[in-house]
Amino acid sequence: MNISEFIPQEITKEIENTSFTWQTPSNIALVKYWGKTNPQIPKNASISFTLNNCHTITTVDFQKKSKSELDATSYTQIDFDLFFEGKKKEEFKPKIAEFFKRVQAYCPYIFDYKMTINSENSFPHSSGIASSASGLSAIAMCLMSLEKQLNPALENEFINKKASFLARLGSGSASRSIEGPLVVWGKNSSVEDSSDLFGVKFNKKVAAIFNNYQDAILLVDKGEKQVSSTVGHNLMNNHAYAKVRFEDANKNLENMAMILQNGDVKAFVSLVESEALTLHAMMMTSHPYFILMKPNTLKIIDKIWQYRVENESNICFTLDAGANVHVLYPENEKESVNAFIAKELAVFCQNNQYILDNVGLGAKQL
Ligand code: PMV
Repeated sequence: MNISEFIPQEITKEIENTSFTWQTPSNIALVKYWGKTNPQIPKNASISFTLNNCHTITTVDFQKKSKSELDATSYTQIDFDLFFEGKKKEEFKPKIAEFFKRVQAYCPYIFDYKMTINSENSFPHSSGIASSASGLSAIAMCLMSLEKQLNPALENEFINKKASFLARLGSGSASRSIEGPLVVWGKNSSVEDSSDLFGVKFNKKVAAIFNNYQDAILLVDKGEKQVSSTVGHNLMNNHAYAKVRFEDANKNLENMAMILQNGDVKAFVSLVESEALTLHAMMMTSHPYFILMKPNTLKIIDKIWQYRVENESNICFTLDAGANVHVLYPENEKESVNAFIAKELAVFCQNNQYILDNVGLGAKQL
């Protein structure tokens, strides 16, 4: 697909004031994206589970500007207000302003409206859970709802694809937060239709063991990240091991595509954990180097490994760009693993906080 297909050709309707609300999820990568070129093109393909309980709910009110307002700004000003959990948040505006700048060529209608964005997360604010994936995918869905009103001929398949394309321009991993339960982003020969431009649903038949997979997110450190993901991605340029990493990640994605179909859960465990540790190894071997794990991250990993051996369990962990641990396990181990988390892992979390989640199906209009 060519990016020009995302530039609207015709606007067939006049819409004055309208409003949309979308709930979009967070996601957790099994094969990680780390390293990109402009504009948000991944250096390797990635695949993630879409989450169910960790989500953002966003309403965007669109109010058509008057002709005189539009004339006064030469039709080039993007106007919006942003509220987070009911409060005006000036400090979040630059990121969203940058997002609108990146998508304006594909959504030229945004110049015609004054937008009021109201957003809230289901997970605690500054919990260290990346809110950019769910936050930007929610705004992308609201933009696509407006586009659909302006051009009712648009089909749902295109709407999801373009929403993922737009979300990606805000934050790469947000491209994987439109659909579920598994989404691939980045061109990879083992997944037909995969693209560097948007996420696609992994549409092969997945083995039963991976249905309704569980993800407990252990909130080890809720502080601000010392290194933003933008800086982290950039450190992969000129990284001594980058070339090998990108090749390995693409091979890992091919293997993961097989594993998800053949149900080899032991291979899943080993690939997922290796991906998490490789991501952090890239951070530790970049210049400047940095460590996002905390002592409790390692204590939890140690406990998980011990539990796995002692209970012949298929529990495993993954990490994103932070200290929190995502504990992944099949649904048939839910009861025993949840008890283990409550009894043995919660003590390593800030204020004993963790979130029990499971795999979900993607964006929902409310
Ligand atoms: O979407 P970004 O730019 O915040 O990058 C996210 C990168 C990781 O979460 C570390 C991995 C991934 O694939 O989600």
